[in-house]
Amino acid sequence: MTKIKIAILASGNGSNAENIANYLKDHEYLEVDLICTNNSKAFVLDRARNLGLESLVFTKSDLESGALFQKLVEREIQYLILAGFLLKIPSELIRNYTDRIINIHPSLLPKYGGKGMYGDRVHKAVIKNNEKFSGISIHLVNEEYDKGKILKQLKTEVSDFDDSDSLAKKIHALEHAHFPQVIEQYISSRHQT
Ligand code: GAR
Repeated sequence: MTKIKIAILASGNGSNAENIANYLKDHEYLEVDLICTNNSKAFVLDRARNLGLESLVFTKSDLESGALFQKLVEREIQYLILAGFLLKIPSELIRNYTDRIINIHPSLLPKYGGKGMYGDRVHKAVIKNNEKFSGISIHLVNEEYDKGKILKQLKTEVSDFDDSDSLAKKIHALEHAHFPQVIEQYISSRHQT
């Protein structure tokens, strides 16, 4: 049986990319086929090497011109997972992968989403506003930043002692515990006969 191929796009550290790849290793019908990054110095490339996964470094212009899409088509990639990916996905790529791009965002959307809101910036804003809770949102990508259909949200408490580093750790723990399973469930639900 040919497996459904997934590409993960990441711009930096790549802990989610690694966690997803490990979760899906030897999966019955899903496979992480490629790790893509727009950052040639990203640590996710080391992680890909250690996992024995192929990686692809591309530029913003590859993303915008359709050159990246061509590569994805050549490799028969069916789903894209954005795991700490910081560039905006062009409309054409979204149309070509309608309902097949999943993003993770480190806040309870619609709070703290939108352009320029990523990683630590989100956690700093949450702490500055004395929020009692933060969390993660796993959602489909549409043409509006962080506004696609939410597949799952999970909450965590923000304590008076949290700073952006400790909150980032709590958020990463939630992401690592849930993101792979949500991906698996979502894709499976679309391929049931
Ligand atoms: C994750 O917390 C993810 O939610 C966030 O970047 C981090 C990447 O961590 N994504 C965004 O902020 C997207 N707007 P990782 O590189 O260790 O997986």
